[in-house]
Amino acid sequence: MNNVLQATDLHRHFGAARDRIAVLRGVNLTIQAGEQIAIIGASGSGKSTLLHCLGGLEQPTQGSVSLQGLNLRQQSAAKLSQIRNQQLGFVYQFHHLLAELTALENVALPLMLGGLNRKQAAARATQMLQRVGLNERVQHKPPALSGGERQRTALARAMVTHPACLLADEPTGNLDRQTAAQVYELMRELNRQQGTCLVVVTHDLTLARQMDRCLVLRDGTLHADTPQQ
Ligand SMILES: Nc1ncnc2c1ncn2[C@@H]1O[C@H](COP(=O)(O)OP(=O)(O)OP(=O)(O)O)[C@@H](O)[C@H]1O
Ligand SMILES: [Mg+2]
Repeated sequence: MNNVLQATDLHRHFGAARDRIAVLRGVNLTIQAGEQIAIIGASGSGKSTLLHCLGGLEQPTQGSVSLQGLNLRQQSAAKLSQIRNQQLGFVYQFHHLLAELTALENVALPLMLGGLNRKQAAARATQMLQRVGLNERVQHKPPALSGGERQRTALARAMVTHPACLLADEPTGNLDRQTAAQVYELMRELNRQQGTCLVVVTHDLTLARQMDRCLVLRDGTLHADTPQQ
């Protein structure tokens, strides 16, 4: 079985009765090992909602998400946190790094939560920061890093556990074009080296269409991207 992440007939509604809105209305998605997928769609179409459901951060109203054959809904809260820590990586538009920790400590944190001791975690975090080109910045705290450096630190933190899948929600939304392209290149390089699947939500069509597959979320379901139309 090569399916890493599988969403089956996902529905997500918000509100009740007359205020009820159906954001996801039957999303099906299968992501195979090593695949890179972009998800595009209008603001408010439900892209973040979909990513939250895929990452077990939100429960779908109906339907299921399986990660490496495990149905996320059937896991205990403790097991779900463990799965999120060890098998998934998350990157957001805002880096969400801890301001009082150095870049190194931020990247080491998921490893320590996963049970590595401080020394082992620091060694792996240092390696990962080197791979994203931040060897000179390991002791800097986020406020002393540039926007691109913060996003690369966030990417290092997401990838340091070698997750099966990286879920990124507009990871380059706050960066200039050139820096955004560099962060994309880095994600794709890590995808090639570590075999991590990428699921990236973006408004940038050029970057989206460089991925293996580009899907559009429209009217609550996913469609193939057809740029000619
Ligand atoms: N917790 C919530 N309660 C009620 N409505 C919500 C909630 N979360 C999201 N929504 C609604 O669901 C819809 C989809 O939101 P979502 O954030 O998934 O869109 P998006 O495609 O990520 O948009 P953007 O491109 O602007 O980030 C929106 O209409 C939003 O108002
Ligand atoms: Mg969003």
